[in-house]
Amino acid sequence: MFTLLKESGAARRGVLTTRHGEIQTPIFMPVGTQATVKGLTPQQIEEAGAQIILGNTYHLNIRPGSELIRDLGGLHRFMNWNGPILTDSGGFQVFSLAKLRKITEKGIEFRSHLDGQKLFLDPRECYRIQANLDTDIAMVLDECPPFPCERDDCEQAVKRTIRWAGEFLEHAREDGFLESGHHVFAIIQGSTYDDLRRHCGQALAEMDFPGYAVGGVSVGEPEEEMLKQVAACAPVMPRDKPRYVMGVGTPPQLLKMVGLGMDMFDCVMPTRLARHATVFTPEGPLNLKNECFKHDAAPIMEADNYTCQNFSRAYLRHLIMSKELLAHTLLSIHNVHFFLDLMAQARAHIEAGDFESWSHAWIERYQAGG
Ligand code: GUN
Repeated sequence: MFTLLKESGAARRGVLTTRHGEIQTPIFMPVGTQATVKGLTPQQIEEAGAQIILGNTYHLNIRPGSELIRDLGGLHRFMNWNGPILTDSGGFQVFSLAKLRKITEKGIEFRSHLDGQKLFLDPRECYRIQANLDTDIAMVLDECPPFPCERDDCEQAVKRTIRWAGEFLEHAREDGFLESGHHVFAIIQGSTYDDLRRHCGQALAEMDFPGYAVGGVSVGEPEEEMLKQVAACAPVMPRDKPRYVMGVGTPPQLLKMVGLGMDMFDCVMPTRLARHATVFTPEGPLNLKNECFKHDAAPIMEADNYTCQNFSRAYLRHLIMSKELLAHTLLSIHNVHFFLDLMAQARAHIEAGDFESWSHAWIERYQAGG
């Protein structure tokens, strides 16, 4: 269930209830592809402020297998994360990772990127895997067109995405998945074609999903185009349902999309950049490999997280230069906390009714210093 608490311009403040607790929106979801947010224990993820994390059907089904996870009590117990989990459907990962994929009207044939094993994903199988994982929010199987994409190809992808979404929902309904408190979110595709985006969104809205996502963005298009596509989807996304933009973004992009009325986001950026020595601050990102931090006794920034409360930039730089594992953990704690704290600030400013002016000033400061 989703409750809209307040609106400030188009920005929304809400609460999404799941079997594993409430999610205050707008929210950022750290990515835990392989049943782990890389470098962090579940306790550290929780302490960084995470309310929900993301898992991945494609990876977990290939290794260790969804039956194994089911037999060990589901994904929450397997990884010892007791908060909500959203799982991506695997369609997108098949396009970016798998070898020799072939899309037919029935589903997607592909070979595992790990051992070449022949695999098949259709709406029924995609539902079955996510039910085995016992996820809180399952994403439908979709087809994400590449950028750029010919209109004819995009029309086909949108058609399949709509049909597969309906079939996925039917399997979930038949199985009692929704009645037992799980959610299923549909995904709007349509590449850079506003009218196809609207058509896809309207068709999916008629099916009455518990939530809706914008897919097929941040796939190589310029930022302006990405924001245009999110803006094109917003009017056809039901107001009383959560709205999720998949696979984004930078801190300014997150704020701009909250400003367009979006509620949920996920991205590997905080943990991936942490592994490359980049940390986020309100004045833009810093690369701690830089010589200028060699003697810097200050924390990354004044922040209420374990890394900033206890370690200097000079020490973190030393760990990075010495290739110590702890560097990944400490930088990831900071970066994940930074993204989650940004969302907490956004929520507070929506509640205060000054989201737009605050967000504008925040982005200006970030970009001026970066
Ligand atoms: N993650 C980022 N973009 C997408 C998308 O378009 N579809 C799915 N399923 N996952 C994504």
